[in-house]
Amino acid sequence: MIRIGLLGLGTVGTGVVEILEKRQEELKFLTGEEIKIKKILVKDINKKRKIQLEENIITYDYDEILNHEDISIVVELTGDLEQGYRYIKAALESGKNIVTANKAVVSKYLEELSSLAAKKDLAFLYEASVGGGIPILKSLKEELALNKITEVEGILNGTCNYILTEMFNEELDYEEVLEVAQEMGYAEADSTADVKGYDTLRKLRILGTLAFQGEINENDILLEGISEIIPFDIEQIKKKESTIKLIGEVKELEDGFTALVQPTIIKEDSYFANVNNAFNSVVFRGDNVGELNFYGLGAGMLPTANAVLGDVIDIIKGSYRKGNPLGKRKLKNLNTKLKNEY
Ligand code: NDP
Ligand code: HSE
Repeated sequence: MIRIGLLGLGTVGTGVVEILEKRQEELKFLTGEEIKIKKILVKDINKKRKIQLEENIITYDYDEILNHEDISIVVELTGDLEQGYRYIKAALESGKNIVTANKAVVSKYLEELSSLAAKKDLAFLYEASVGGGIPILKSLKEELALNKITEVEGILNGTCNYILTEMFNEELDYEEVLEVAQEMGYAEADSTADVKGYDTLRKLRILGTLAFQGEINENDILLEGISEIIPFDIEQIKKKESTIKLIGEVKELEDGFTALVQPTIIKEDSYFANVNNAFNSVVFRGDNVGELNFYGLGAGMLPTANAVLGDVIDIIKGSYRKGNPLGKRKLKNLNTKLKNEY
C-alpha cells in the first residue's frame, strides 16, 4: 500500500481525491499497489468540503504528515508560495517524494529543490505546474532530451486565454469574464498572478530552463500582462482580421537568448489564434524533432489532477527521470538588445 499526504483540498486537491476514488482498480493494475490518501492538510479545518471524507483525515498540523513514517509521497497543492516551499523542502529532508502543481514554488526554487531531491535520491515532480493536463514536462525531460531546442513558444495561462476568448467572441468586459474564470476554478487564489502575466512568466521560466539546459530566471523575462486590454482594443484588432493572445516565448540565438511574455496580435488563421478558452498550447523547435506542438486543457480540476496523479504513478513505478534534470549551460540574456529593437 502506498500512502500519500495531500497538502491542500481546493480545486485540484478535490480532483485528486475524486480520480483516486473512481480509478482505484486501474491504479492498482498500473502500479501493482493500492493507493491511499492518509492525511490532508488544509488551512481552515472548519470549512465545509465538497466531498465526503474519511473521519480524522483532515489536519492543520503538518507534523502529522511529516512524521508519519508510512507516508512516502507528499502531494503539495496549496498554492502558497513561501509556505508551500517550506512544506516541500521539509518533506524532501524527511525522505518523502514530492509531487506539486505549485508553479510559483517550482519557478522560484527550481534549482535548489531539484538538487536537494537528487541528493536524497527522491522524486521532485511538477508536471501539473505547466500546461495543466498536457504532459509537457515529462516529454521535455525524457522524450525530447536528445534535442537541441532553440525555441519554446506558448499560450500558458488558461485564465487569460479564457478572458481574451470571451472578450473577443462575446464582447464581454474584462472583469465579468474574470469572475467566470474564477468560478470555473481556472484562476489562481490571487488572480493578479494570472492577468498580470506572472503565472505565464513562471511557466516559461520552468520550460525554458528545462528546454535550454541552462538557467533562465524570472527576471530574465520581459513581461506584460492582459489587464490593460480594453474592448476598444479588441474592436480594432478584429477589424484587421486578427486576434490577441498572451504568448510567452524563449528563443536561443547565436550569441544568447531572448525571453518575453506579452499580449500578441496574430492573424486569425494562425495556429495560436485557434487555441481558445482554457486551452493551452506549447510549440517546441528542436534539431531532431523539428516543430512539435502540445495542445490541451491548461487549467481546471480534473485535467490538473490527472497530471498530478500521472506523477504519482511514475514515482510508484520508478518511471521518472532520476537525478537532477537541470543542465549547467551558461546562457547570455539578450533581452536588452530586444528592448532596443522595439
Ligand atoms: P485552491 O485555492 O482552490 O486550494 C488551495 C488549498 O490549499 C485549499 O484547500 C487551502 O485550504 C489549502 N491551503 C492554502 N494555503 C495553505 C497553507 N499555507 N497550508 C495548508 N493548506 C493551505 O487552489 P487550487 O486547487 O486551484 O490550486 C492548487 C495548486 O495547483 C496551486 O499551486 C495552483 O497554482 C496549481 N494549479 C492550479 C490549477 C487550476 O486549474 N486550479 C492548474 C494547474 C496548477 P482551505 O481549503 O482550508 O482554504
Ligand atoms: N491559473 C492557472 C491558469 C492555472 O489559469 O492557467 C493553471 O496553471
